Amino acid sequence: MSDELIGVVGPESLSRVLAERGARVVTGPDREAAAKAVRERGGVSAVVVAGPPDAVFSAWAEAMSARVDVLGLAPGWPGSVRVPPAPVSVEDLCDALGLAPRPGDGALSVGSDGAVDGVSGVGDTSAAGAVTEVLPGDAQAAPARVPTWARDAADANRVETPVEVVPKPSASPSDAGGAPAPWGTVLLVASGRGGVGRTALSAAVASTAAARGLDTVVVDANPGPGGLAHLLRVEGRGLPTVADLAAGASPAQVVAGPEQVRAAGGVRVPWAAVLGPDPDQAAGAGASPEIYVQALAHLAGRAGLVVVDMPVWWGPVGPGGQLLAHAVGRGAAVLVLGDASREGLDGGRRLAEWARTRARTTHVLGVLNRMPARGLPGVGEGARALDVDFCAAVLPYEETVVLRAARGDLVHPLLGLAAGRVLDAIGVGGAGR
Ligand SMILES: Nc1ncnc2c1ncn2[C@@H]1O[C@H](COP(=O)(O)OP(=O)(O)OP(=O)(O)O)[C@@H](O)[C@H]1O
Ligand SMILES: [Mg+2]
Repeated sequence: MSDELIGVVGPESLSRVLAERGARVVTGPDREAAAKAVRERGGVSAVVVAGPPDAVFSAWAEAMSARVDVLGLAPGWPGSVRVPPAPVSVEDLCDALGLAPRPGDGALSVGSDGAVDGVSGVGDTSAAGAVTEVLPGDAQAAPARVPTWARDAADANRVETPVEVVPKPSASPSDAGGAPAPWGTVLLVASGRGGVGRTALSAAVASTAAARGLDTVVVDANPGPGGLAHLLRVEGRGLPTVADLAAGASPAQVVAGPEQVRAAGGVRVPWAAVLGPDPDQAAGAGASPEIYVQALAHLAGRAGLVVVDMPVWWGPVGPGGQLLAHAVGRGAAVLVLGDASREGLDGGRRLAEWARTRARTTHVLGVLNRMPARGLPGVGEGARALDVDFCAAVLPYEETVVLRAARGDLVHPLLGLAAGRVLDAIGVGGAGR
């Protein structure tokens, strides 16, 4: 059984639909009881909340979103709650929650009140007084492929993945189409769950590329705390941010060079940065996909490598989804990060599958990070688990990564090793190239 739970504040039919797709659900007989159960039940990995917010639920959702991802189905929630644009389908919800959708789920829409098209609401008004825990009950649901080393080793849905030798991808992003891909110098670092090391690996890839002589820029496309400004120790220091573009700055003006970062008291790095919006800019047009497209379009033709620290993948409709679609359509490479959790693997795999269907992307790579050091899988198994063309590295959880980062030493040798392999695989800046 998975030790990850999804909290549902919404109709019982919604819980049932999610449980049928493999979720373990914590909910309650009414909105208040469900919210209380979700708050008090430890280990909830994501929360879906239906219906419009009011002051009490807004405060509850804010508090919850400090710990877990909260997905709202109606408009009007505070900014920390993700509200995918309507109409939301069951497939969108599965994507956002790391569940395996069933065929046809794309056509099943979920209302802002949580009602699912064509799914009986019987039971929604049930007077059952107790907090409910709905277990994944449908043996017909498509089982997710979870390898033996994933944390939920006892999960009945687990299917072993054979180890396979994975061929290296072709040498250049431009191979597929003849003409060079316009964004062939862009590498998107993405994942299906937070905290897997996107920012740390983005910095490592950029530092390694710069050491190979490439003019490198890191773009922070993941608004919110703990981003690139935090890593560089320049939060609140008045450096330009991507949001300044919306206020009329030119793309060149939002790039902070290494000297500018140093002068602001930041860490010494050999690459330039486009910082994410400041907290007061984060909700508006300054964090829109269009703004990032503008910044990346400017940089793609000028820098030797543009590394984009992407938001967590919530499906094509989620934050970052539009930016990812635009970028892979122009030939950007995608580095999918996963960890040993079910959510990290399922989300990463869904992201990789989706990216591979986009015509111009020739490189969908993976790295497994923060893995249990015992029984570390090989890169072949890593590629299989993430469903990527090539797994550049499988890295263990190593305490000194955090310790060194706290000292301002951004590139741990472990991450540097993975970064070098990523760059070799996409044919950027390697020896002799
Ligand atoms: N292999 C590793 N071993 C141990 N700690 C690691 C490893 N890789 C990254 N970390 C640490 O894990 C934490 C999360 O990493 P990071 O902030 O880069 O993740 P993220 O995916 O960008 O997270 P978020 O979703 O919050 O943006 C950081 O403290 C980082 O130093
Ligand atoms: Mg990050």
